Amino acid sequence: MTEAVNNDEAPLHKRRVRYKGKNPRRFDEKYKEHDPEHYAKDVAKIIQSGKTPAGMHRSICVQEILQVLEPRPGQIVLDATLGYGGHARELLSRITPGGCLWGIDVDPIEIKRAEARLRTSGYTQEELQVRRINFAGVLKILSEVGGGFDLILADLGVSSMQLDDPGRGFTFKREGPLDLRLNPERGQPASALLQSLSEKDFENMLRVNADEPYAHGIAKSVFKCRKPIVTTTALADAVRRALPRTVDDEEERTRSIRRTFQALRIAVNDEFFVLEQFLKNLPMCLNSDGRAAILTFHSGEDDRVVRSFKQGLESGVYADMGREPIRASRQEQYDNPRSKSAILRWVQRGKKGRV
Ligand SMILES: C[S@@+](CC[C@H](N)C(=O)[O-])C[C@H]1O[C@@H](n2cnc3c(N)ncnc32)[C@H](O)[C@@H]1O
Repeated sequence: MTEAVNNDEAPLHKRRVRYKGKNPRRFDEKYKEHDPEHYAKDVAKIIQSGKTPAGMHRSICVQEILQVLEPRPGQIVLDATLGYGGHARELLSRITPGGCLWGIDVDPIEIKRAEARLRTSGYTQEELQVRRINFAGVLKILSEVGGGFDLILADLGVSSMQLDDPGRGFTFKREGPLDLRLNPERGQPASALLQSLSEKDFENMLRVNADEPYAHGIAKSVFKCRKPIVTTTALADAVRRALPRTVDDEEERTRSIRRTFQALRIAVNDEFFVLEQFLKNLPMCLNSDGRAAILTFHSGEDDRVVRSFKQGLESGVYADMGREPIRASRQEQYDNPRSKSAILRWVQRGKKGRV
């Protein structure tokens, strides 16, 4: 253990968090996983065991995305969901020298870490530009970019870092505030949204945002609680109590809890509206013959992407699109269960001027 040395030359080290038992269990105790540069071997072991280390995100469908986008040196690329920066790193290594990647993300906490990680690989300001904005407002940076993008990638949803940190409220496995905001500096947390809804509105939200089959019972159970639900575990308990006795399989119960969190997350971050805005603006952001790839994780997202791509193809804005959904390989689905629900779609812009 590194002891803190109190002199002017040496940096002050924080005492490592102590944990009970052989392995750390809590997110903030997993100091090795939060520092993969120093603990590469330990982190590799965790990945080999099929888990994602805390504070890290394993990029999904990397090879499939590279095949679809075919990045080349000199290209101007938008990563609309920078996240951990995993896809961005792969794209950067193929578009440099001469190219530039614009990485945007709505999360003010993780975006700083992602940029710092990518800068340690030596990417300059000319090669990498990072902005904290919502992809719904991507048109705002077009004048700065000085034209459109040759390639655009959007990997929708949340990162593992956001999911695993109990303080962000995305996980029901640990107690935390029921927040679920991708940008915790804006808007209202899920707990406040929940209090502002009627039981009927919440039931509809569960159906529309997550196709939850037990929406009626869950809404009833949540609104029966005497105290307002303000923590992740309290919401998970309310969902469990609502499920009929016939749902005796823990996996099925977990699926209902996951869908309830998904429905609230979509509402809190207005995810369908911002995706529709992004899809509407996409042709204006792409250069002639430019390509966009979008990775979705549930039918609410995928349906919107397919509808928009088909409309663009019919109107002549797009010249081509992938007809079949592309999925993660069997091996990837086995290695990283989070890739199981991923669907990759792509589209190619026609000649510019037909938006
Ligand atoms: C699945 S992660 C991306 C992971 C990334 N592709 C990688 O390889 O590390 C999704 C990211 O998109 C961001 N995000 C979600 N909705 C967004 C939006 N409307 N605008 C900008 N970023 C968004 C989230 O904050 C999160 O960091």
